[in-house]
Amino acid sequence: MTDKPILIAYATRTGTTREIAEALGAGMARRRAQVEVKRMEDVDDLGRYVAAILGSAVREEMWLPEAIEFVRRHQEELRKIPVFYYVVSMTLANDTPQRAQEVLGYLRPVRALVEPVDIGLFAGALDKGKLSPVIRLMLTKKGFPEGDWRDWDAVRAWGERVWQLLRQEEMSGF
Ligand SMILES: Cc1cc2nc3c(=O)[nH]c(=O)nc-3n(C[C@H](O)[C@H](O)[C@H](O)COP(=O)(O)O)c2cc1C
Repeated sequence: MTDKPILIAYATRTGTTREIAEALGAGMARRRAQVEVKRMEDVDDLGRYVAAILGSAVREEMWLPEAIEFVRRHQEELRKIPVFYYVVSMTLANDTPQRAQEVLGYLRPVRALVEPVDIGLFAGALDKGKLSPVIRLMLTKKGFPEGDWRDWDAVRAWGERVWQLLRQEEMSGF
């Protein structure tokens, strides 16, 4: 691997997606990879990185607006490096093949800009006690359960997969 670090950049509202970014970062660091974990707003120069892992929470069946904007703004630089996306969503609290397809559909706007090497789909967390009554009602109607549904084994496994894919890219001359 080159001297440049791997970027793990996230967009979050309540921290769930940041903690997944940090877990992915810790996994890479254990393999002695150079890695920087940052909120998307704090990233400026994409040319500094050898690869980018970009993750966002989902609201209203989309990545957060700042995450879509990040890919739009940096699309040229992102096309030059291996890019990975991950999605954090409550649709996946009850994981079925149909729900996975549904969540993949949330990524259509960013995949139209930059196609990733691989995608991680993760269940998130919801504390309805912290939300307004209107939003609570909306989420209840959607059938999203309360609680922390994150599967840390799945996060670790995907981090390992990303690492292996990066190693393969490196061996094929990247
Ligand atoms: C207002 C609101 C809207 C949401 N909309 C969706 C949605 O459309 N689909 C989905 O799968 N999850 C949805 N979620 C669940 C979040 O994606 C989930 O709680 C996630 O873990 C939040 O991540 P964060 O803590 O990084 O912000 C919604 C959550 C909130 C609070």
